Amino acid sequence: MYKIVKKQPLNPTVTRMEIEAPLIAKKAKPGQFIILRVDENGERIPLTVAGYDREKGTVTIIFQIVGATTEKLNHLNEGECLHDFVGPLGVPTHVDGLKKVCVIGGCAIALPIAEELHAMGAEVTSIIGFRNQDLVILEDEFKACSDHFTLMTDDGSYGEKGNVTAPLKTLLENGERFDEVIAIGPLIMMKFVCLTTKEYDQKTVVSMNPIMVDGTGMCGGCRLTVGGKTKFACVDGPDFDGHEVDFDEAMSRSRSYTPFERHAYEEACNLFKKEVE
Ligand code: FES
Repeated sequence: MYKIVKKQPLNPTVTRMEIEAPLIAKKAKPGQFIILRVDENGERIPLTVAGYDREKGTVTIIFQIVGATTEKLNHLNEGECLHDFVGPLGVPTHVDGLKKVCVIGGCAIALPIAEELHAMGAEVTSIIGFRNQDLVILEDEFKACSDHFTLMTDDGSYGEKGNVTAPLKTLLENGERFDEVIAIGPLIMMKFVCLTTKEYDQKTVVSMNPIMVDGTGMCGGCRLTVGGKTKFACVDGPDFDGHEVDFDEAMSRSRSYTPFERHAYEEACNLFKKEVE
């Protein structure tokens, strides 16, 4: 059993948890993921390692409440335990030798990459996007590990108005070049980051974590086409050359699970409602 030592809501739909898992904390690297099960009969879900403390023996996860399992997970409190917590899995993000990097995040899981690059002494430009001010999280943490920091909101309620590709395009247009652009977040965001960087022949790496289902290499849910070849995000990735990824296929495959996920989510919500009544 894996104890939740800290739980912190970051905004109404995103929660950070620190889990006691010393063996994983010892080996985890940015870009890797864990698989957890909330209880014995629970679904396995992969979540990106959002941080680790090797001395305390804890691993941090950040999750958005989007379905049945994340809803159940969010109902656990400090002191309670997860049934399974397995990892670290996946190939770590390649950071060796990088000196100048642009980290683009449509979510918080870009943070450990930016922190690792900063700790290595690389020049880090972070461009982070959210839908609106209420959803902004981890701003101070991103600022602390970034040499240049831009925060975007879709509606302009905080930071600059627009999506993350706008400041990236401006930088590239002005002749700025990076050893790598690393994009992590929703598929649609990564697709447009890649379309932007391709124009400027700017090397770009994307994390295909969002299409993973069970993270074990068995369900086939994370199958994608990279450079015309079939790959599995949980086994061969999650990081890939963004210019080689067939995003349209990945987005259409991930949409096919939506009705099942919605049904399971509604059932979980009804269950919690009945418990409260
Ligand atoms: Fe199931 Fe990769 S997530 S095979």
